[in-house]
Amino acid sequence: MTEATDRATNGDHRHLLSITDLTGDDIDRLLTLTDSFVEVSRRRMPKVPALQGRTVSWLFYEDSTRTRLSFEQAAKRLSADTLSFSVSTSSVNKGESLRDTVETIEAMGVDCIVVRHRSSGVPHQIAQWVSGSVVNAGDGWHEHPTQALLDCYTIREHLGGLDGRRIAIVGDINHSRVARSDVWAFTTMGAEVTLVAPPTLLPPDTAGWPVRISHDLDAVLPEVDAVYLLRMQRERMAEALLPSLREYTALFGLTRRRVERLHDKAIVMHPGPMNRGVEIAADVADLPRSVVVDQVRNGVAVRMAVLFDLLGSGGDLGRDLDGGRADRRGRGPIPTDRHLPNPVAVPQVSICRESGPERIAESGEPGDGTPHRPDVPTDVSTEGTR
Ligand code: MLT
Repeated sequence: MTEATDRATNGDHRHLLSITDLTGDDIDRLLTLTDSFVEVSRRRMPKVPALQGRTVSWLFYEDSTRTRLSFEQAAKRLSADTLSFSVSTSSVNKGESLRDTVETIEAMGVDCIVVRHRSSGVPHQIAQWVSGSVVNAGDGWHEHPTQALLDCYTIREHLGGLDGRRIAIVGDINHSRVARSDVWAFTTMGAEVTLVAPPTLLPPDTAGWPVRISHDLDAVLPEVDAVYLLRMQRERMAEALLPSLREYTALFGLTRRRVERLHDKAIVMHPGPMNRGVEIAADVADLPRSVVVDQVRNGVAVRMAVLFDLLGSGGDLGRDLDGGRADRRGRGPIPTDRHLPNPVAVPQVSICRESGPERIAESGEPGDGTPHRPDVPTDVSTEGTR
């Protein structure tokens, strides 16, 4: 039995690696927990002793502004100690392998590693190496589970819930880990999702996805309660997929003219960073119906909920908020035997022998549509990965 399978069967759920590990009830519970942390965040002293004595560390191999700051703010508001790790100034640049780096961090008494990596599957791999918790803060094109949770929370806040809501996700779906996590989270919570993109920006095989597909944004806008825009993730594209950005904006950008097609209560969302003037017009981003800033604000409370859920006393919120010291590790929400109900084509990480940073290779090719179980990366070699 692999360690991952073992965890799935013995109930020791320590990590948040994929949104598919959460049931609708799990998501609901985390959103309810988030309500408490939103309340904490509004206090004059927005800090509680819930994770005093715990240490959270970041391992970000990819650029990030909001996700990293948001996790840092969340950990600090829970009174956890934080250990910041910057790849650009670390021994990674001297050829240290991912595994040695992770084990070094863990040896310093870290309880939770928050990891972002350009290769899909890396957080799952790290979870095999450590005894503490791992949170996926974005892996390649694959998943971004805390973004999905904060998006659910923001939709619930503005639209009263997700059940029966109609949501359009627009843009570069193929390269988007946010889209993959959001599709799962939104549909698990009862929303209807339409993906709107030119064919070149859709995954090659969406046959099993629980979504509708459209190439006509103008037709979809009047029907939806939320429109979720994605950035053109050019750093993940191996080839030119569009004739020009100008043409993309003309057909798929949320312009001022187009936004008028939405009904009065419909909201506009974006995970950031926004490219104003491309997928969203500058003035549309600042309209009252744009909830982008709320997404960022809610991200802190959602991540407080996730860290508390993984590292806190197991749900005794009253006690932890009142100063009771968390007394056990490993209480997480996560049954790990679920998977996306559909083939999700993602590039797979392959970690080579003696992998230093330069040896962690990503194929750059989308998958072949073979059903892929995202919580068990299929071609991560665990051999000789030091
Ligand atoms: C991500 O990490 O995927 C971002 O939140 C979205 C983006 O990079 O466009």
